[in-house]
Amino acid sequence: MTEAVHGGRSEEASPEEVGLRFEVDGEIATVTLARPDKRNAQTFATWAELARIGENLPQQVRVVVVQGEGPSFSAGIDLRMFTPEGVPGQGSFASTATLDGTSFDKRIAQAQQGFMWLRRPDIVSIAAVQGHAVGAGFQLALACDLRIVADDVKFCMKEPALGLVPDLTGTKPLVDLVGLSRAVEICLTARTVGAEEAARIGLAELVVAPGDLTQAVRDLAAALLSTNRDAATATKRLLQGAAGRTLEEQCAAERQEQMARIKALFARS
Ligand code: CAA
Repeated sequence: MTEAVHGGRSEEASPEEVGLRFEVDGEIATVTLARPDKRNAQTFATWAELARIGENLPQQVRVVVVQGEGPSFSAGIDLRMFTPEGVPGQGSFASTATLDGTSFDKRIAQAQQGFMWLRRPDIVSIAAVQGHAVGAGFQLALACDLRIVADDVKFCMKEPALGLVPDLTGTKPLVDLVGLSRAVEICLTARTVGAEEAARIGLAELVVAPGDLTQAVRDLAAALLSTNRDAATATKRLLQGAAGRTLEEQCAAERQEQMARIKALFARS
């Protein structure tokens, strides 16, 4: 059970509405979208629980796998949000639209917290994506550092077609991965991007047959775990900062990180 904050009220959301499973096996944590009969549609309660998982991630975890049960990774936001009744205990877009600016901003920021932690430098997140990854589903995959996809994957940024913008932290990684022009084209047409194109334009690291997805993710996780944790964290931090720095600034950042590594590895007390 988790608390879904709704317009200043706090309500218990049922496990059915949350639709998530969380398991830890040594250094690997797995978050599973577990509402396959509804194609893993996501609610505000899903995002609140995702944020809670991030806040309480066991210290030993180095790799986080995000996967979806059933034929599709995720069909995005629960379409009941578009109805007057909304999602039980969580309201609807119509009720959210009446919030004042500050509460409204806070509500979206809370949802974004469910996605933000997946970029933490001390972990590597892998999205294992099969079938449809629509809207919030596409953005959840984009929130991860790496995407391993099945050859039946269908990415679609549906929000503009529904009169909305992608607001679950997906626009920046999309632009970073595929470039501004391609991101504009993908979002503003709300078209589907398949596996071959996803690999070609940098949306996917690897394409495999659907039956090989689990093993491919396991193999990648094992490879990621084979490097030194502190070095991996420092390297990810460096890589994440690279786009925002000049070459000279990046060289200085490399020196700083390396001095810390060499001191940690070789300095005698
Ligand atoms: N919300 C709630 N229920 C959904 C759902 C969704 N997003 N997507 C699918 N379901 C339900 C269906 O209603 C259906 O339920 P019943 O069996 O009770 O009728 C069940 O899941 C199976 O759905 P389909 O038969 O349609 O499954 P499919 O495999 O043939 O098709 C699909 C999959 C192409 C993803 C299709 O279900 C679909 O188009 N879903 C809607 C996608 C969508 O528009 N999502 C919103 C994106 S925008 C977003 O996410 C915005 C945001 O953050 C603000």
